[in-house]
Amino acid sequence: MKVLIISGTRPQFIKLSPVIREMIEKKVDFTHLHTGQHYDKNMSDKIFEDLDIPYPDFNLAVGSGSHAYQTGEMMKGIETFIQERAFDLVLVPGDTNSTLAGALSAVKLHLPVIHLEAGLRSHDWKMPEEINRIVVDRISSLLITPTDDGVENLLAEGVPKDWIYRCGDTMVDSILYASNKAKRLSLKLPFPSKQYFLATMHRAENVDDSKKLKAIIEIFSNAPYPVVFSIHPRTLKNFQTFGLFKELKESSNIYLIEPQGYLNFANLLTNAVGLITDSGGLQKEAFILGIPAITLRTTTEWVESVAQGANRLCGLEKECIYTAFSEIKDGKFEVPSNHPYGNGKAGREIVSEIIRRWENNEIIFPSE
Ligand code: UD1
Ligand code: UDP
Repeated sequence: MKVLIISGTRPQFIKLSPVIREMIEKKVDFTHLHTGQHYDKNMSDKIFEDLDIPYPDFNLAVGSGSHAYQTGEMMKGIETFIQERAFDLVLVPGDTNSTLAGALSAVKLHLPVIHLEAGLRSHDWKMPEEINRIVVDRISSLLITPTDDGVENLLAEGVPKDWIYRCGDTMVDSILYASNKAKRLSLKLPFPSKQYFLATMHRAENVDDSKKLKAIIEIFSNAPYPVVFSIHPRTLKNFQTFGLFKELKESSNIYLIEPQGYLNFANLLTNAVGLITDSGGLQKEAFILGIPAITLRTTTEWVESVAQGANRLCGLEKECIYTAFSEIKDGKFEVPSNHPYGNGKAGREIVSEIIRRWENNEIIFPSE
């Protein structure tokens, strides 16, 4: 069994790391191709270092651009890469343009696709990630999903039951691995533990809109604790383009930091009083670590974190956000201790299942 893994962004490296460590352990013959979608040191190289996985074997260095440009360039590179070598299976994680390009290129060359983190739906077709998820799930042969909601979504869309594999979420493996390793790091902040919020924002629907960026400055400025804001390169660029960076920087309640390596960030999250985010992965990580989350989106694919009271889905509604701020300050926002995302052994289970299904000829190229 020769596996090609295709990824290109920070959250994909994090999702993949437990699978890669296990493939190395089990001596699976795999090649890892980086599309080059993320390329800054802390968005790429540092994540591999922190999670103890090798840097990918090849990098297409596609870089940034519009959706069509980026996806097209990736597909051209991936197609040639596959044609020049022999693979049996292609594995793609998550929902980014790298996921889409990897799956489309593979299926057109008649290779079965394994989708890691299948079945998730925000039901918002204006999110580029939602389109990527739907398309990739439709053309995949093994759909590995981390939630019951994921299973239901796939069955409702007509995916054969036997093609779905429900198991834990590999991000649980990753955050437990990192928070354990990060215990020896000291907190490099001018604020004591549990006396700051941690924030990230990068969704196109929030940060590509100047009015929303202004609202974000106002909300962070009104938080009852300082807000440590790890600023994604897309977000930084937009604050600068819209002429709002000075206002952001001068807010006395906002403490800007550049994107952090995964261990540092796990440490910052563990010690935060609460999380403010529009990230997908962070909504889960906060739940796993028992940190209250306020999500500045109106939809989520991690519906169980909201249903179980660990995550407040506020969009940019000030009343919702300020109520959550007060509850966190008064110790009234309690995160349940039992999260539904698995036991931290997903990487091991997934690799065993892929090997088992491959040996039993159960990973079948889609046909009519
Ligand atoms: C992408 C994914 C998103 C994921 C996010 C994780 C898509 C459609 N979006 O969004 O699902 O949640 O990654 O972080 O695939 N940039 C840099 N340096 C980098 C990377 C990006 O400066 O290393 C800047 C560039 O100006 C670029 C912009 O960030 O144009 C956006 O990057 P891109 O990869 O296109 O999308 P993300 O917003 O990162
Ligand atoms: N993360 C990180 N450093 C940072 C900010 C986030 O390592 O400065 C990690 C975070 O812990 C989570 C992942 O990046 O595991 C989330 O990625 P992102 O928010 O970029 O993408 P999404 O999950 O929304 O697709």
